[in-house]
Amino acid sequence: MVFFRRLMAVAALACSVSAGAQMLSRPGWAGSGMSSDPWWQHAVIYEIYPRSFQDSNGDGIGDLKGITQRLDYLQSLGVDAIWLSPIYPSPQVDFGYDISDYTAIDPQYGTIEDFDNLVQEASRRNIRVLMDLVLNHTSDKHAWFTESASSKSNAKRDWYIWRDGKGTGADGKPAPPNNWQSLFGHSAWQYDAKSGQFYYHYFYPQQPDLNWRNPQVKQAMFDVARFWLNRGVAGFRLDAIDTLFEDQSLADAKVLDGTNEFGDPNTDKSLQTRLPEIHGVLHDLRSVINAAPGQRLLVGEVYTKDAADLAQWYGLHNDELQLPMDTGVGFTNKLDAAAFRQKLEAAQTQLHGNTPLLVFDNHDNPRSWDRYGDGKHNKEIARVLATILLASRSSSLMYYGQELGMSTSTPERKEDVKDPIGVLGWPKEKGRDGERTPMQWDGGAQSGFTRAAKPWLPIPMSSMTVNVEAEQKDNQSLWKWYQDLIALRRSRRAMREGQQILLNHDADNALVWVRKHQGVTATSPAVVVACNLSDKPVVLHLRDEIKKLGLRGQFLRSLMRSDYGMGPMNLDEVKLEPFGVYVGEIHY
Ligand code: GLC
Ligand code: CA
Repeated sequence: MVFFRRLMAVAALACSVSAGAQMLSRPGWAGSGMSSDPWWQHAVIYEIYPRSFQDSNGDGIGDLKGITQRLDYLQSLGVDAIWLSPIYPSPQVDFGYDISDYTAIDPQYGTIEDFDNLVQEASRRNIRVLMDLVLNHTSDKHAWFTESASSKSNAKRDWYIWRDGKGTGADGKPAPPNNWQSLFGHSAWQYDAKSGQFYYHYFYPQQPDLNWRNPQVKQAMFDVARFWLNRGVAGFRLDAIDTLFEDQSLADAKVLDGTNEFGDPNTDKSLQTRLPEIHGVLHDLRSVINAAPGQRLLVGEVYTKDAADLAQWYGLHNDELQLPMDTGVGFTNKLDAAAFRQKLEAAQTQLHGNTPLLVFDNHDNPRSWDRYGDGKHNKEIARVLATILLASRSSSLMYYGQELGMSTSTPERKEDVKDPIGVLGWPKEKGRDGERTPMQWDGGAQSGFTRAAKPWLPIPMSSMTVNVEAEQKDNQSLWKWYQDLIALRRSRRAMREGQQILLNHDADNALVWVRKHQGVTATSPAVVVACNLSDKPVVLHLRDEIKKLGLRGQFLRSLMRSDYGMGPMNLDEVKLEPFGVYVGEIHY
């Protein structure tokens, strides 16, 4: 999978006044009670892939009205915010990540009124809305690019990265300026016969990169951000933020061993990604965010090699991203307690006190259900992952359907593939359709997603049993586990803001931690979270370790247990079945 591969390679409204004079009601999202910390330090953010969440008009494609219809569901799950993958007008080559107009809504998703209504209805339920902001590139159908491409002397020529090639190549065709490759396959340079120059694209050729060295580009994009902030969005998820700048030397990339799934030689991407200039842009964008009333937020899509690397994205003075994604933990891709322990500990100790944003699932990677599942205990394993995601000291990013245990449904035939990288890379790269299938609301033929006979991606067979309706009725479902964990984050101080202290239990492949907040008392106790990452039963003796933390403890009062047993637990005999989880308060 291309994104995971990239990860590995790197390891190498307060709702103010909307644009018109319309006043949106002041949302109820001032905070959820227990502390005065900014909301995003304890948030559960739910990613919605709008095409696949809920179709309201029967065309087989999800839309904004559909999302609004499902807000009660999101409220019952307990999420603080939703992040919408791009809903702007787009030729949909990269399903919205190729934007042709940044200040409008794609008609297939609805209208700007539908959007305003969604924001308002969400805020009524104390749910904030985050937009996806694609800064690196536009669609090739964006007016900025068509102007830029119209002639070498056009005023917007320099808004994109146009360069001369290197004459004629061995194949008789114009040779690109260098050997840089697109993440989505083949050369990153596209020849334009009209002007005889090439333009640069890190992603698809239909996604030309903007030239962030031109101050007008920055100005235009910051105006876009203000437009949506004024409409009441709570902030942005910044797409592919590490790709904003390229090395000006245009020197060839180092060629590495082997070939990628598109058949191209592997190349080092350090001249194309993660240039230091990005930090200046993030710093200035943070000022734009901060200038808006309410606690607005910048989330960033970054894949980093370790916590020290991740720490840089917060900014030297915590003045860049509030929440860069911490993919280290969620993409461990192995049920290895020692590895999780090390990464969770690093997130607590190496981010200078900043909040990690844990994430296991998104629209670019096979679902965690399949990446971690052993085919036999997938549900139990999913419960463990949910616990790591939601019972850690972190903000938590989840992806629609994760709470149900939706699985990856990769197309079996090339002709069924919708994601272009799956067509280009078939069969080594089958694209990202598998993790983008429609939300599974009920067990009906179209899973409650649409009334169309043919949704844009097929409804997985698993929807007959894995669906919201069935799981909400079942007290022992994965859905209920998610709901209970989210509720605990709200109701227990320790779970909301307590430090996360990892205990040493590698030997059993058990992952155990204590959440301890300032001012632990008998009525506001610390909490133990214990996960068995093995297929054998485990018994943990925790009394001594808990004592060492300076905590008084006699017994554990159970809050959540995957064996659904009742009653308290002996501190010296915490029993976990294979892949079992136990959460309990330390009482004395
Ligand atoms: C991000 C998005 C991905 C998209 C790419 C190009 O990585 O998450 O879906 O294809 O950027 O915009
Ligand atoms: Ca629709």
